[in-house]
Amino acid sequence: MSTTTSSPEGAVDPMTMRRTMGRFATGVAVVTTLALEGKPYGMTVNSLTSVSLTPPMLLVCFAEGARTADAVIESGRFAVSILAARQEPIARRFASRGEEHFAGLPLTFGQHHVPIVPDALSHLECTVASHLVAGDHVVVFGTVQRTCDRDGEPLAFLNGRFGDYTDRGHEPLPWFF
Ligand SMILES: Cc1cc2nc3c(=O)[nH]c(=O)nc-3n(C[C@H](O)[C@H](O)[C@H](O)COP(=O)(O)O)c2cc1C
Repeated sequence: MSTTTSSPEGAVDPMTMRRTMGRFATGVAVVTTLALEGKPYGMTVNSLTSVSLTPPMLLVCFAEGARTADAVIESGRFAVSILAARQEPIARRFASRGEEHFAGLPLTFGQHHVPIVPDALSHLECTVASHLVAGDHVVVFGTVQRTCDRDGEPLAFLNGRFGDYTDRGHEPLPWFF
């Protein structure tokens, strides 16, 4: 099915924006931090983007009011755990609105005193470089201080559903790796 949406003002409504961008397949990650009072926060994200290689920087877009965003900005540090395909339950846990996402989970820490999701495909430990408000989101730019990654199948997200990534078996792009 194809749908075209436009308006004289150029304003696209939120559901149309979400549906249309939902065609962009992404991975799934959990952003975690430790608030100044010592409480862990974390939430599932797919707005993760690599920004710069030198220095190594990434960004995450947080919806206005997301509890983890406030804690990240306040503490000045956070970790990104890129999830493996078998970690869909973790993605669902950290996406449940208003819940205590860490309830019943043993805390595992990276080397920068920030909790991480164990057994994820990658961990990136970051300090907050800056943040800016963009519409109804806050964009947080992080400088990557430490990374750790392993082989494995990634968790994918497309059209509002979790899925698996299929490798077509072609050679890696030479300019990329
Ligand atoms: C696959 C997936 C990706 C998500 N990506 C984002 C994101 O990039 N930014 C965001 O603000 N919320 C995102 N969410 C929604 C948050 O995970 C969810 O609202 C979470 O409960 C917010 O945490 P909080 O309850 O601590 O505010 C995503 C949810 C899912 C399932």
